[in-house]
Amino acid sequence: MNGPVSIEVLKQHLIDPEICIRCNTCEETCPIDAITHDDNNYVVRADVCNGCMACISPCPTGAIDNWRTVLRAEAYSIDEQLTWDVLPAQGTTAADALRAGQAGGNDAGAGAAAEPAGIEVDTVRGSTVPPWSAAKPYVNLYTHKAPLRATVVGNYRLTEASTESDIHHIVLDFGTTPFPVLEGQSLGILPPGTAPDGRAHHARQYSIASPRDGERKGYNNVSLTVKRVTQDYQGKRVDGVCSNYLCDLKKGDTVEVIGPFGNTFLMPNHADSHLLMICTGTGSAPMRAMTEYRRRRRLKGATGKLMLFFGARTQEELPYFGPLLNLPKDFIDTNFAFSRTPGQPKRYVQDVMRERAADVAQMLRDDSTYIYVCGLKGMEDGVLQALQAIADQHGLAWETLWPKLKRDGRLHLETY
Ligand code: A2P
Repeated sequence: MNGPVSIEVLKQHLIDPEICIRCNTCEETCPIDAITHDDNNYVVRADVCNGCMACISPCPTGAIDNWRTVLRAEAYSIDEQLTWDVLPAQGTTAADALRAGQAGGNDAGAGAAAEPAGIEVDTVRGSTVPPWSAAKPYVNLYTHKAPLRATVVGNYRLTEASTESDIHHIVLDFGTTPFPVLEGQSLGILPPGTAPDGRAHHARQYSIASPRDGERKGYNNVSLTVKRVTQDYQGKRVDGVCSNYLCDLKKGDTVEVIGPFGNTFLMPNHADSHLLMICTGTGSAPMRAMTEYRRRRRLKGATGKLMLFFGARTQEELPYFGPLLNLPKDFIDTNFAFSRTPGQPKRYVQDVMRERAADVAQMLRDDSTYIYVCGLKGMEDGVLQALQAIADQHGLAWETLWPKLKRDGRLHLETY
């Protein structure tokens, strides 16, 4: 006689390869390393994911929020997921016959079989919600399947020709087709051609450097800050597929754009909110967008303070150096940190923040201050440590301030 059969049903967490822009946010956010990737896809280990949902809101595209009901024994392996171009449809496995009764039948965000409700995860270092007064962003209006074609109307080098860093300011015009953006959002570029495996290149994500009302006010265009990649993180020679494509574009060329993306790294809309901005290199793009929007709004009565810490190797390699210097001192408090100026000690943004501790503390003390960090991955630790030291020195207990900043959408981190 047969005994009872144990049929365990799993709500398997999957990432949609068609929408995913491979920005690595989910892998960085996952507190238990359930997410991994190869050159092709980002994937979730079914045996590790506990459905804690920590990765859901940081994902700029929503690709992360996909679930399929499967028999646990038949869960999609990561090897299988790494080969996917599209997600499998729900409704093709044995588990489907069982799901209505055993798993509740809700496809969206239910997590794994172990009930995720009530799991508190606070390993995320920044906010996963936008500022309360941020405008509502549009996301995913244009996708890999239906990108928007934009025309290059400007492309010029921001860094001195004598330097190694080749950073470009690129302006894309959308003609009469809407591409609504907010400061802090990003877009994806689909580089032409195929990867060595014959597949189309996946999209590369770039922060938008212009404000919501256009690089040129009233125009339907955006700007990007793109660094030509010529080596990998180990210093080995590699030519970045998309950055080289973009930096070589001529006026009049067209590019395929997807997005916009991002619904949390957004600026507050209330006029008396303060912005504390910390960036390195091309991480200046969202700071430029926010600063320029505030500059335009200031004329209409925005009163909040702006304080900027900006790191680069040298003055000649700092994008937007000249324009930043031209901004009035009573509008923005700009602080540079140069790490490779000959004859000068190496300075990072976190060092300069410490030098300005009293003024940073004054901003931290104010509930209307919103903090933005964008740039090299390595700076994240350094900046958080500097904020902690400054807060603690000035009687603002960091261990209570930090969670509050996160909860209130007031600490936004975007590093790569
Ligand atoms: P470094 O001279 O040590 O590379 P890049 O030009 O590579 O985009 O870097 C921008 C700036 O960020 C450089 O001044 C670089 O200094 C600096 N940087 C590198 N690592 C860190 C870090 N861990 N924290 C803060 N700044 C950093």
